[in-house]
Amino acid sequence: MKPILCLGIESSCDETSAAVVDSDRNILSHVIYSQVPQHQKFGGVVPELAARAHILAFEDVVRRALLDAGKTINDIDVIAGVAGPGLIGGVIVGWLGAVGMAQGAGKPLVAVNHLEAHALVPRLTNNTEFPFLLLLASGGHSQILLVRGVGDYELIGQTLDDSAGECYDKVAKMLGLGYPGGPVVDSRAGLGDSARFKFPRPLCDRPGCDFSFSGIKTAARTILEKCRGRISSTPNGAQDIAPLQDEFIDDFCASFQAAVVDVMENRMRNAIRDERVIAASPTALVVAGGVAKNSGIRAMLERLAAEFGLEYSAPPLSLCTDNGAMVAWAGIENFLHGRVVTEPVAPRPRWPLTEL
Ligand code: KG4
Ligand code: ZN
Repeated sequence: MKPILCLGIESSCDETSAAVVDSDRNILSHVIYSQVPQHQKFGGVVPELAARAHILAFEDVVRRALLDAGKTINDIDVIAGVAGPGLIGGVIVGWLGAVGMAQGAGKPLVAVNHLEAHALVPRLTNNTEFPFLLLLASGGHSQILLVRGVGDYELIGQTLDDSAGECYDKVAKMLGLGYPGGPVVDSRAGLGDSARFKFPRPLCDRPGCDFSFSGIKTAARTILEKCRGRISSTPNGAQDIAPLQDEFIDDFCASFQAAVVDVMENRMRNAIRDERVIAASPTALVVAGGVAKNSGIRAMLERLAAEFGLEYSAPPLSLCTDNGAMVAWAGIENFLHGRVVTEPVAPRPRWPLTEL
């Protein structure tokens, strides 16, 4: 049977991306235009700048995705666009672009939930089967979900305050390491001594699967202020803010990352033992979202999966952060379940997976 071809479009944060993917799990093309350089000088994503950059990049990114795949819009069977959750200006640009193309070319359209796109991408790359237990960690979300099928999610735990990605980005900012913070903190952590600084492990002494990261972030600020104070008060180093030594930054990142990984391990252990999860007998432990790139988190989950006799599944690093291929794949999975748009869909800044 001829595979289904889907054009997927992502625009919910600071990447304008489009990809052509088929139902045989081939990525025929993948174009990612990253806006990171435009936001870097502001230390984070500026929503208005992001929306404008999506408008400017959209047409070129989609054209190139079709061209690289050697296809025209007429060859495409289904168009998928992210309709939320995310920064609403960007979501509007990508979603309305997808709607316009689908209407113009007379193609079926899927309104993809960005979180579902992250959640399903391990099925594109690793053929992971339902049901699975998912740690979904991105810039905007930190959740543990039982994934029973397409559109079928049960929330097992979630952050009570900051997301893990947000925490990484803020700590990187405190250290002057730039934006986005996750990748650089992760690589510096690999060089440092994780026992040097004492970070808390919030909620780990309590039952349940919810996270809290704000205490780790506050501890980071406190430790840093104390150490900076000490450095600047030395007789020959009289500066307001003393420059941080490389070794200090490495050890700080390693100690911070160890705390985040410990918290995630503690919560995932509880999730694996949760009665709803036990009753569903998941086949795999899956990690997805931008923070799934993290070396410490990946290693911890691989160990945990082996301990509990579960398959470990994570997307390749290039498909963890936001991308069009995951949207195209979620488009295919939804299309195959008949989940296509039949009436106007409004873009949504918030759209929990439990509301699909
Ligand atoms: O999924 P994503 O691309 O965008 C959202 O949907 O939010 O995730 C971006 C987040 C950022 O906070 C970034 O710092 C984080 O993922 N991130 C990482 C790593 N690589 C990216 N966090 C920890 N370790 C990493 N290696
Ligand atoms: Zn994302």
